[in-house]
Amino acid sequence: MQAGTTAGMLDGKEVAARVRDDLKRRVEGFSGKGCRAPGLAVILIGDNPASHLYVKNKVQACKKVGIESFLHQFPQAVAAEEVLASIERLNSDCSVDGILVQLPLPAHLPTERILDAVLPGKDVDGLHPVNMGLLACGKQGLRPCTPQGVIVLLEHYRVPFEGRHAVVIGRSNLVGKPVAFMLLEKNATVTICHSRSRELDAIARTADILVVAAGRPCMVRGSWIKPGAVVVDVGIHKRTIAEGPKAGESEVVGDVDFQEASRVASLITPVPGGVGPMTVAMLLSNTLTAYERHIAGK
Ligand code: GUN
Repeated sequence: MQAGTTAGMLDGKEVAARVRDDLKRRVEGFSGKGCRAPGLAVILIGDNPASHLYVKNKVQACKKVGIESFLHQFPQAVAAEEVLASIERLNSDCSVDGILVQLPLPAHLPTERILDAVLPGKDVDGLHPVNMGLLACGKQGLRPCTPQGVIVLLEHYRVPFEGRHAVVIGRSNLVGKPVAFMLLEKNATVTICHSRSRELDAIARTADILVVAAGRPCMVRGSWIKPGAVVVDVGIHKRTIAEGPKAGESEVVGDVDFQEASRVASLITPVPGGVGPMTVAMLLSNTLTAYERHIAGK
């Protein structure tokens, strides 16, 4: 990439729309044969505004492709037993193929215990230890949506993986660890870094593919990026602009300084409109996969 040029976009919005079109056709195929609609139950606890917005998007996306959604809302102070009882009911409900517990949960709730209560065959978030284990072994299961979205997006743009150095910043169960397994499966050479890694910038600079899920706004600077690298920004943060003509207004940024990075990278995800729409599309895809397995009696 020449100095002064800008990177191409990894347009998650567009690719997600294509994925949804394909899913819609598959759902129509089933309804044409007289089958019931696929069903997704969403558990939303408390009043985190971001979680409410994400859930609204997920419910709307279900509607677009013909998946029925069932929203189960609980107050912030709900007892763990009540949530667990609700999951038990959904586990044995034949009209529910997928169960999603929107994260983060209020601090008093045992997140791990709640996620582990979801039947692995209905775990469309791919966060149950059984599904995580299947992924680690390279076997079929339900896989976490954001990492799957990252891979599908890169595949769409024909980004080569084989033998390339993929650096993942972040080691969460939601993104960092599963995306590293998926990149390994694609024959990339994978390095996982995190907040305790030394010389993070130097490691990032060796990446052909840089996936950033660090949870820190604009942490990755242009100088951290190898010229021509492909950059995937999983972060999303809303913040107030401190200075300049737009001071006081709010903006949405990722974990990567987009302006700087897009002068160095060959391809980059925008925030918003990059990974976010892909996560929702993969949730729909997982729900349909779970449905197909249920219909087939697997
Ligand atoms: N909160 C932020 N991202 C996610 C996600 O992918 N799944 C769930 N359940 N909650 C989230």
